[in-house]
Amino acid sequence: TKKPVIAIDGFSSTGKSSISKIIAKRLGLIHMDTGALYRGITFYAIQNCANTDKTIDIKKLISDLPKINLEFQNIDGELRLFLNGKNIDKEIRFPQVSDNVSQVAKEAEVRNYLLTTQRDIAKKGGVIMDGRDIGTVVLPDADYKFFMTASQDERARRRFLELELAGEKTDIETVKQNLISRDKIDSEREVSPLKQADDAILIDNTSINKEETIELILSYIKKF
Ligand code: C5P
Repeated sequence: TKKPVIAIDGFSSTGKSSISKIIAKRLGLIHMDTGALYRGITFYAIQNCANTDKTIDIKKLISDLPKINLEFQNIDGELRLFLNGKNIDKEIRFPQVSDNVSQVAKEAEVRNYLLTTQRDIAKKGGVIMDGRDIGTVVLPDADYKFFMTASQDERARRRFLELELAGEKTDIETVKQNLISRDKIDSEREVSPLKQADDAILIDNTSINKEETIELILSYIKKF
């Protein structure tokens, strides 16, 4: 039987991407982290469309979109992100990108621009895609939809540990403020806001660990 298309949406730092990656490995699916695309565009904008005060010139970014070639390449079963030929998997995690990405992601032109890239990957099936609007807008016909949430404190704690491990100097309060502000912009934007699809299964992992979350999600997926 056909491999499924799975949509995983939810708040920042609920573990969507790392959990999707593991589920993809176990089920033999391709994993696509759609947040990476918005981060890629933001990274381009920081380098090429910055105002003197370091904010992003959105008008310039929108006129530059045709110049931005963002693509995933499947390297040893994992999708790696390339911007105009250069790998940017590391750069898109910089705090400056995290601080600006939601401003960029609320623009309709940016979202439209990325729609084809996302839908093309899902056409053949066998994909698990994580983001904010996958179940609602990008893949409304997905076979399975999950919506992940956890308390703000728990999410801030996880993200802080992750950044600390990566050697970033930050503090938990700064991390928490970034999460709160991104979630607010993501949920309140006019185009494709972050929200649970009517037919999505809610997964709250505030008090369960990563492995338990994976098991819970897998318990809903039928053998194929
Ligand atoms: O998933 P991640 O936290 O890396 O996503 C970064 C940002 O990209 C989100 O805060 C959101 O603004 C945007 N995003 C989006 N739609 C998606 C995935 C990410 O708007 N499908």
